[in-house]
Amino acid sequence: MSFTEKLAAHASRVQSLLDAYMSFEADTAVSQAMRYAVQGGKGFRGFLVMESTAMFGIDPERAIWPAAAIEAMHAYSLVHDDLPCMDDDTLRRGRPTVHVKWDEATAVLAGDALQTVAFDLLANMREDAEVRVRLISDLARSSGAEGMVLGQAQDIAAETAETPLTLGEITALQRNKTGALIEWSCAVGPIYVGAVQVNLRRYARALGLAFQIADDILDVEGDSKAVGKRLRKDGDAGKATFVSLLGLEGAKARAAELVAEAEASLEPYGDRAGTLREAARFVISRRM
Ligand code: IPE
Ligand code: IPE
Ligand code: MG
Ligand code: MG
Ligand code: MG
Repeated sequence: MSFTEKLAAHASRVQSLLDAYMSFEADTAVSQAMRYAVQGGKGFRGFLVMESTAMFGIDPERAIWPAAAIEAMHAYSLVHDDLPCMDDDTLRRGRPTVHVKWDEATAVLAGDALQTVAFDLLANMREDAEVRVRLISDLARSSGAEGMVLGQAQDIAAETAETPLTLGEITALQRNKTGALIEWSCAVGPIYVGAVQVNLRRYARALGLAFQIADDILDVEGDSKAVGKRLRKDGDAGKATFVSLLGLEGAKARAAELVAEAEASLEPYGDRAGTLREAARFVISRRM
């Protein structure tokens, strides 16, 4: 199976679980918007959950729950990221954004409720209470005021900052807004087996940064149809990115360094980490 086939296979399993989980009794605009918002993504974070657990011999039937949880959390972050008060985007995953298809109130509420789905999935899956609490607590921190939400606030603040952000500040911003959820995804396997995995953590950190740099590069030179978003917006919006600071070639070089670092971090795991190694290379070669 090629890497993209593996990615699609995991995404389709995650999608089925989310569809079943979100078949709410009340068919409202919010519930429709929630189902709409989880469709059509690459499923990269769910994939990382599936692979970081497979590495430790965890049954996919058990891993699918946190995989679905992180994709619900990610979908919420995108719905809110696209709002007029944030990035003001009209296209997501090749379709109108939620606030365009419905309205802003529906988008805010669908995002809120998707976030609760993520925690509900983790709270109710069949794992020891200790594992569930660890995952819930870590996800709360990764997505909250010291994680993704902080990164999003830093991203918005940077648009109007008087002086351009430094490399260190951009790195911190991106680690928060994008890295935190990716790092959580790679931590699920170690949490299931109750072992600290420093190397896997280092992998996730490099991967998360490379992922956002690639997103920023795609904004400049991607194909809107393949990416499914409106592109060439970051520059005009005054976003602080590796591209804005280092230029396109500098950003590409930094992303390549990070991918090399990610791959090197996997060395202790040998063949078990083959797919995660492919994931690192995918992050910078992707066109979507
Ligand atoms: C987009 O994430 C937002 C970022 C954090 C860069 P993805 O590129 O994973 O988006 P989907 O889920 O595949 O649509
Ligand atoms: C989004 O970053 C990060 C989160 C949603 C947390 P971007 O704003 O760059 O993502 P896109 O380009 O809209 O997907
Ligand atoms: Mg944004
Ligand atoms: Mg955006
Ligand atoms: Mg972007």
